[in-house]
Amino acid sequence: MSRSEFEPVAVVGGGYVGLVTAAGFAELGHEVHCLEADADKVASLARGRVPFFEPGLEQALAKHRDRIHFSTEPAAAVGACGLFFVCVGTPRSQTGEADLDAVYTVVDDLPLGAGQTIVMKSTVPPGTGIECRKRLDGQGREEVGYVSCPEFLRESSGLSDFIKPDRVVIGDAGNGAGDAVEEIYLRITSQDRILRTDLTSAETLKLASNAFLATKITFINEIANLCDRAGADVTTVAEGMGMDPRIGFSCLRAGIGFGGSCFGKDVTALAHEFERHGSDTEILDAVLRSNERQWRRVLDKLVEGLGSLEGASVAVLGLAFKPNTSNTRDATSLRVLKGLRAEGVDVRAFDPEVRREALVHDVNADATLREVTFAASTGECVAGADAVVLVTEWPEFVDLDWSEVRRAMAGRLVVDGRNALDPTAVSAAGLDYVGVGRPASRPERMPVS
Ligand code: UGA
Repeated sequence: MSRSEFEPVAVVGGGYVGLVTAAGFAELGHEVHCLEADADKVASLARGRVPFFEPGLEQALAKHRDRIHFSTEPAAAVGACGLFFVCVGTPRSQTGEADLDAVYTVVDDLPLGAGQTIVMKSTVPPGTGIECRKRLDGQGREEVGYVSCPEFLRESSGLSDFIKPDRVVIGDAGNGAGDAVEEIYLRITSQDRILRTDLTSAETLKLASNAFLATKITFINEIANLCDRAGADVTTVAEGMGMDPRIGFSCLRAGIGFGGSCFGKDVTALAHEFERHGSDTEILDAVLRSNERQWRRVLDKLVEGLGSLEGASVAVLGLAFKPNTSNTRDATSLRVLKGLRAEGVDVRAFDPEVRREALVHDVNADATLREVTFAASTGECVAGADAVVLVTEWPEFVDLDWSEVRRAMAGRLVVDGRNALDPTAVSAAGLDYVGVGRPASRPERMPVS
């Protein structure tokens, strides 16, 4: 076993955030003990297999193989580490609030003692830290530290977000428990990017940040819908809005809705908090409703371009909730596939990193998804299609040879659900380009003599 320069740290949970965090700390030079309850997962991680696609992660874990130890058993980690970065899932429960079973299991069962600190990275509702503190105190474990240190990294750029965070939020009960966490983060960021808070403010600001970004995306999506009717171009509108530093450019890419493990779940969880505290929120409810129906712009555009959809053949490019990930949690693609099947469309779909097997849960739960054909390549997906719909802007779709696509298709409609394609390149290939809130672009036709 190699000995690293810095103190060993523990990461609890071998999911997306846990593995990126483990790889990040190993890259900084720490020995990392990664605890994961699923023995099969531990065995496959120890063999270097990462169960999802994240750029650079498999390579980073392989590079630091000697420094990262995966185990289901806490003994070695508890014997060696002071800081326990908890990265367990907090999935949405049936009623909308976060399911905190995994969080409380860690707090109650991890045998920590004096000088050891739980650092909560998982997204939890406001008040969870106070509840965890109470549990620890109630068990006579007052000397175990508890810190809220929410995670802000984005899938597909997790490793670089870890190494270069915009901010690090460290909440504690005012007892200095966060000092050791601050010290460790000062190796990757500067003091002015560290915000020390109380526990509940740290938890609230994480949910509020995600909810705000989701609101911004939803706002520009609605503006795009207006642009479609008014004849404006939402990409230009967003550019002009973003030039105001009070607004900024990020999260102003209009399209057919946000997806992923976080935005929908966190907006729902935050809305639930309003309810729990006897208050209400107009904005968050509207964001969820608006996002839920934004995919229908695909339907509108197909009907406009093809007329009747019954029996039409449509190629869906992209299943992941965004490019460079294999995650399909809450992905817009699922709404699109189900919605098109419900209209009697013959749907074929392809994603470079998502196979049908990855959707097995959704496919089993929804009969309409069983009727979708999953293609093995872009070529197979678009062959004979009346229309192509871009759902995830993978670079290989953005850079497609549209003349080749035109030759393979039966029809010539391209619906760009992410405003990611070059309308001129698509129409120059003889295809009809339609975006979301962007003027359509059609091939120049020879005048009929
Ligand atoms: C999001 C936040 O951006 C992270 O800061 C946060 O840490 C993370 O959730 C989390 O809580 O774990 P992520 O879900 O990985 O990160 O993805 P984003 O890149 O934010 O994109 C989310 C969705 O919004 C995607 O479906 C994307 O296509 C969509 N989006 C994003 C737009 O439709 N338009 C935009 O302008 C930006």
